[in-house]
Amino acid sequence: MLINKCLFPVAGYGTRFLPVTKAVPKEMLPILAKPLIQYGVEEAMSAGITTIAMVISKHKQAIKDHFRAHPEIESSVQGTAKASLLDEVNYVTEHCDFTYIEQQQMLGLGHAIHSGQPLIGNEAFAVILPDDLCTNVGDSVLAQMTKLYAQHPDCCIVAIEEVPMDEVDKYGVIDGKLLDNSDNAYRVHNMLEKPDSADAPTNLAIIGRYILTPEIFTVLANTQPDKNGEIQITDALMILAKQGKVIAYKFQGQRFDCGSIKGFVEANTVFLKTSFM
Ligand code: UTP
Repeated sequence: MLINKCLFPVAGYGTRFLPVTKAVPKEMLPILAKPLIQYGVEEAMSAGITTIAMVISKHKQAIKDHFRAHPEIESSVQGTAKASLLDEVNYVTEHCDFTYIEQQQMLGLGHAIHSGQPLIGNEAFAVILPDDLCTNVGDSVLAQMTKLYAQHPDCCIVAIEEVPMDEVDKYGVIDGKLLDNSDNAYRVHNMLEKPDSADAPTNLAIIGRYILTPEIFTVLANTQPDKNGEIQITDALMILAKQGKVIAYKFQGQRFDCGSIKGFVEANTVFLKTSFM
């Protein structure tokens, strides 16, 4: 196994979902009855990863509770039809090791990933942002990416998708050249964080799946905050892209932007249709 650990940077405030996110972590919002964070961990497992590292905040203890045993609930449903409703989460809890670290200040995704370094150490690792919920009939998006990483073990891999040009200002956007013999993997030579559509080199937007080499930690340590005071992972990756060490991968599957109310409702609607119809 080349990738053994998956980092979940989940310390953000989730302000687009206020007021619910005052007390409920965004990652605990459900698609049907399962919280986003559990879909994320299941995707990591589908790529063979069972060491789960989470960067959380002191307001997000519910995430820890979700992946802990709950003997009172277990015994209350034991022997009833409802017992099976806990099977999936129990399976995850039994098969994964969970570690947590608190991000002390909300200084952006790059800062959150850097905060996770003590949990990762000196090895390549995956990153999942669980509010980007990804589905696919074949290999999961992260499993597709770990296969690509196996062919390019000195490179970071970012997942991309084409978005409408008038939405590029919500994303990190890449420019690159298709790898030889590939129609879905680009060697990245430029990256911009949330560009105006007029400045965007393409409409290829980075979504919340990454495979990062440990070099990223050194780069993040030297990455300056942007104009909003946030350390951006895109800025750090740009340093590695200049050395030819970033590949962007147009994944197979569907992504729901569950960090927005529209995407969250759409995911629930689609999952409801596929579950009960
Ligand atoms: P977002 O940009 O979606 O921010 O973060 P957010 O706080 O979750 O949500 P809004 O925009 O206020 O509604 C992308 C990912 O980075 C994490 C978030 O938890 C999310 O998984 N993040 C962001 C951190 O862990 N720490 C930060 O300082 C910022």
